Amino acid sequence: MGEIISGKVLSKEVREEVRLEVEALKAQYGAVPHLVVILVGEDPASQSYVKAKHRGCLKAGMLSTVDRRDADISEEELLAVIKQYNDDDEVHGILVQLPVPKHIDEDKVIDAIDISKDVDGFHPLNVAYMHLGRKCILPATPKGIMTMLESKNIELKGKDAIIIGRSNIVGKPAAMLLMGKHATVTIAHSRTQNLKEKCLQADIIIAAVGRANTVTADMVKEGAVIIDVGVNRTAEGKLVGDVDFEGCKDKASYITPVPGGVGPMTITSLLQNTIECFKRILGA
Ligand code: GUN
Repeated sequence: MGEIISGKVLSKEVREEVRLEVEALKAQYGAVPHLVVILVGEDPASQSYVKAKHRGCLKAGMLSTVDRRDADISEEELLAVIKQYNDDDEVHGILVQLPVPKHIDEDKVIDAIDISKDVDGFHPLNVAYMHLGRKCILPATPKGIMTMLESKNIELKGKDAIIIGRSNIVGKPAAMLLMGKHATVTIAHSRTQNLKEKCLQADIIIAAVGRANTVTADMVKEGAVIIDVGVNRTAEGKLVGDVDFEGCKDKASYITPVPGGVGPMTITSLLQNTIECFKRILGA
């Protein structure tokens, strides 16, 4: 059986470091990082993510504001809300939970957030910096994945990695970060042919498509590292990832569970990013 990389356990350790850093910042600056999360509408998954982010902030000693807006808010109004937080010196991080309702242009929302407060790392300039390998705020989920790999000293240099999923939030940035660590990266997606053969070549498999059982044991090379980013509900309401965990766990050298894997690490990374924005804003 491969070793489980528990995001729950690792998060606990890292969040304690975050909490101590917040305490130190408070002693030094008389202020703590303040994250504002804007939630538009009532999507149940988004509500639960936002609740977890809010709790995470409070437990770390940070300030957290959840600004809930009706699903029928106009784009103009939402952009005005963002501007208000951009201009507020007491706010250090701004996040608009995605997806936003269809009548709102997501790109405009992302572009509107002041880059110094872009805790998601989604602003085009932040994305550009990441692609250039410059210092920047990294998107929370890929950052959390890298923290998980580092926590087990998993060698990436020269390794073959496949990422299944090409989203702006996970797949694309994860590819850049792995490349930055000298892995050879393949990005697969819904139109990829011969996915099984490609996965069988891989030393590291990152599954981020949002479909249960996308990765099954017959697709996994003996000793591969498997990172499961998927969050899916079965017909019975059970939370599962994109990987057939039971089938794959004996072939993998390391594997992440769902729940308790990448999910908690995403929020942990967000807390780290909020500290980072706070420090940059205060010139710390
Ligand atoms: N929706 C799903 N993941 C994310 C995330 O990391 N940030 C935001 N803002 N919305 C999301």
